[in-house]
Amino acid sequence: MPATVVIGAQWGDEGKGKVVDLLAERSDVVARYQGGNNAGHTIVAGDQVYKLHLVPSGILYPGTLCVIGNGTVVDPGALCAEIDGLEARGVSLDTLRLSGNAHLIMPYHVMLDGAAEMRLGRFSIGTTRRGIGPCYEDKAARVGIRAQDLLDPKILVRKLEVALEAKNEILEKLYGMPRLDPQSVAADLLDHAERLRPFIADTALIIDEALRDGKRVLFEGAQGTMLDIDHGTYPFVTSSNPTAGAACTGTGIGPTRIDRVLGVTKAYVTRVGEGPFPTELDDEDGRRMMERGNEFGTTTGRQRRCGWLDLVALRYAVRLSGVTQLALTKLDVLSGFERVRICRAYRDRDGERLTDFPYHQTVFHGCTAEYDDLPGWDEDLSECRELTDLPPRAREYVDAIAAAVEVPITLIGTGQGRHQVIDQVEI
Ligand code: GDP
Ligand code: IMO
Ligand code: MG
Repeated sequence: MPATVVIGAQWGDEGKGKVVDLLAERSDVVARYQGGNNAGHTIVAGDQVYKLHLVPSGILYPGTLCVIGNGTVVDPGALCAEIDGLEARGVSLDTLRLSGNAHLIMPYHVMLDGAAEMRLGRFSIGTTRRGIGPCYEDKAARVGIRAQDLLDPKILVRKLEVALEAKNEILEKLYGMPRLDPQSVAADLLDHAERLRPFIADTALIIDEALRDGKRVLFEGAQGTMLDIDHGTYPFVTSSNPTAGAACTGTGIGPTRIDRVLGVTKAYVTRVGEGPFPTELDDEDGRRMMERGNEFGTTTGRQRRCGWLDLVALRYAVRLSGVTQLALTKLDVLSGFERVRICRAYRDRDGERLTDFPYHQTVFHGCTAEYDDLPGWDEDLSECRELTDLPPRAREYVDAIAAAVEVPITLIGTGQGRHQVIDQVEI
């Protein structure tokens, strides 16, 4: 059973990086399929902390091939900086491959992301301002620049001229920003091109060959289900599909090749940026989660909003991605609460009880959470490595979640460190 997709089942930052790093030890290939450097994945290996944005979370294992797939959007400067930073720390990048079809984030995408957020004012999305949305817009509009264009300077300049014809009008007339010169944008890019050239490859073919050889391939999602552009809390979403289906289109394999889908969820919920969040807490419990969980964004440093676990949203995530097993991270953060709450249903504005995630945004925006309370536990979980090490009340909490979503929990996070887990995952 070699192909497993790892997805975020919430609003991102579920701990996907840690889970992928752990499973990468027993995998041959790790492939990112969507998103860009809006992602921030923290891995704690011994006394070393790694913060990855574009490079797949398998890079710390020298034998694991790491693919940045065609469905991602890549800021060439950010990728070069990440590669340099890792190399400076002794991490080998020899196994990194970048799809020639991946779209590149241009300086004007970053400018337009920031300018659009300013223009939206109090209706802003709270993006990471990394140019993600504008880059995917250009991909769909068929005026994007791709990694393979770095290999052909003449075509690169031609494409930049076409793209900038329209972009310069928007930059200047709508936002009062300076026009960009295609030649100088190309010149800056070509500095990075030399650095990135050795990594650019036909990654769809590489993954196909690995699968045919019976190798273990992990598909690493970024962001999370509720940030999915189709199924998330639109418009407060990212511009790609973090759900499992995108692993196919985002790397170039067919759906029949996927064997398992591992959903990653925190034992509570966090969200960065704007948008609805029914179980959000604005009280001592929320602050306690934020402090104990150190809930600050890996990419932007913003404080994450915190709340109780939302089983309506979690069941929705399981359904959308065909999740076959769950990783429940950060259970250790919930030690010391007198009682822990789980949201089993929403009440809409008319008081109607909803157990399925509402498809209509107006209904969802008006939803409040209905909770079940379970007794909390005081014990420190950081040394728990087996299910039987868990205190009975923590075990009850885990069992209640697994029963509600009807999916086994095969991994439980008990601390930030690489091996602070109860791990029963088979991949
Ligand atoms: P990602 O974007 O899904 O990879 O998640 P992030 O790395 O942005 O955020 C998750 C944070 O929680 C990181 O700082 C991880 O090191 C940390 N983390 C992951 N799993 C656990 C866990 O089980 N317990 C604790 N205390 N921290 C964890
Ligand atoms: P990882 O991979 C949490 C959020 C932003 C904003 C919205 C749109 O670390 O889980 P964008 O810059 O993508 O256009 O912003 O999505 N967002 C994330 N939130 N974790 C992430 O990635 C995120 N990537 C984007 O905060 O609300
Ligand atoms: Mg993150």
